[in-house]
Amino acid sequence: MNICVIGAGYVGLITSVSFAKMGNNVICVEKNIEKVDSLNNAIPTIYEEGLDDLLIDCLENKAISFTNELGDSVKKSDIIFIAVGTPSLDNGEVDMSQVYECINEISKYINRYKVIVNKSTVPVGSQNYVKNLLTKNGVPRDNFDVISNPEFLREGKALYDFFYGDKIVIGYESQKSKNIMNLLYKPFNIPIIFTNPETAELIKYTSNAFLSTKISFINEIANLCNKVGADVDTVALALGLDKRISPEFLKPGIGYGGSCFPKDTIGLISIGEKYDCPFEIVKSAVSVNNKQRIIPVDILLEEYDDIKDKTITLLGLTFKSGTDDIRESPSLYIIEELLKKGASINAYDPMVSDEIKEIYPNINYFDNIKDSLLESECIIICTDWEEFKGIDLDFVKDNMKEAFIIDGRNMLSLDEAKKRNITYYSIGKGHTKGC
Ligand code: UDX
Repeated sequence: MNICVIGAGYVGLITSVSFAKMGNNVICVEKNIEKVDSLNNAIPTIYEEGLDDLLIDCLENKAISFTNELGDSVKKSDIIFIAVGTPSLDNGEVDMSQVYECINEISKYINRYKVIVNKSTVPVGSQNYVKNLLTKNGVPRDNFDVISNPEFLREGKALYDFFYGDKIVIGYESQKSKNIMNLLYKPFNIPIIFTNPETAELIKYTSNAFLSTKISFINEIANLCNKVGADVDTVALALGLDKRISPEFLKPGIGYGGSCFPKDTIGLISIGEKYDCPFEIVKSAVSVNNKQRIIPVDILLEEYDDIKDKTITLLGLTFKSGTDDIRESPSLYIIEELLKKGASINAYDPMVSDEIKEIYPNINYFDNIKDSLLESECIIICTDWEEFKGIDLDFVKDNMKEAFIIDGRNMLSLDEAKKRNITYYSIGKGHTKGC
């Protein structure tokens, strides 16, 4: 099929290469000409496992091209995917301006029947709004159908999820557009849920709000475990073995971040308010997360009354491992708190981006763990990068000003820390004081 994807951000790029790999002709339209050039030269604009090879493969097979020219791309296509950003506004509502701008633009070039598919996360009722906007712009009703097709990709595992995901959700109105979507997705062999657009739009928010709630729930249990001497991993294991619950998303830590959970939880709360359905549970999940992500600073302040001029080493800046994304990363909130309190910050992240260096030029960035620890008073592990499991604890004991670790992702062993007289705090697996 001839597919046009608008937006070469995370979702748009993964969608483009995945459909191209499946034998479709894909044109990905992106406003930013630097991104277009980079992608046409097979240089990915984001880090994602497997993306570099797949991009080369699709470009060599001429299955994909990138352009900033929208008109021709729309005219040539049977299906148009909208994958532009829908960030949160300050009041929690979803900012739809990029979607509307995109619809206004494509309205000018719809020369025959096309299926317009919304991949961006949008409030319930958006499909209807988009339909009305196309009609208002003079596009004949016979020339389009609008589909809601939310994505459930995890960063770092996005290609895997596209090809082997648990489900595909299609919100449709006409049988014609349903058949086209069925043809497009059938080769993936993933269960497809066909439903009405409102249901499809709500499924995305429901999934992300539920998973966020699961994380905040286990984090609250972890905080209690620390107080009563229980072990959160064992609690989570037993809980997850119950088939009605599942073991996934029960890993405690310093909270969730990223481009979806924080945005979609407040997005759902805002939708609920509009319809007089207050989401008290989701509100609590958000407020637990807001507190959870700065727990390391609370621990520091229990240990030292004042952290002014103390040097704190942050290990991990990205919101999770396997990505270079720092959006809504708990580490950013920790940095803000530490700076407010006058601490000096060292940082090491295997994927540190220039973006964070621009936001926080006064942090000392290092390119290895050991150098980042020298002369530091405390380590806070913020991200679950695998290499942090192998931190040399003898080096920590011998080379830090104070051997003190706050393990925000439960990467290390309390017993190993105890053996070396290191002060160590976990999230829900106890703590030990060194001397
Ligand atoms: C998420 C959803 O999983 C995906 O379906 C959706 O479409 C986009 O948002 P992503 O943001 O890439 O994907 O990351 P995910 O792996 O889901 O983790 C989100 C956050 O939750 C991370 O900060 C992670 O560290 C945290 N998390 C996850 C936990 O704290 N504990 C867990 O058990 C799982």
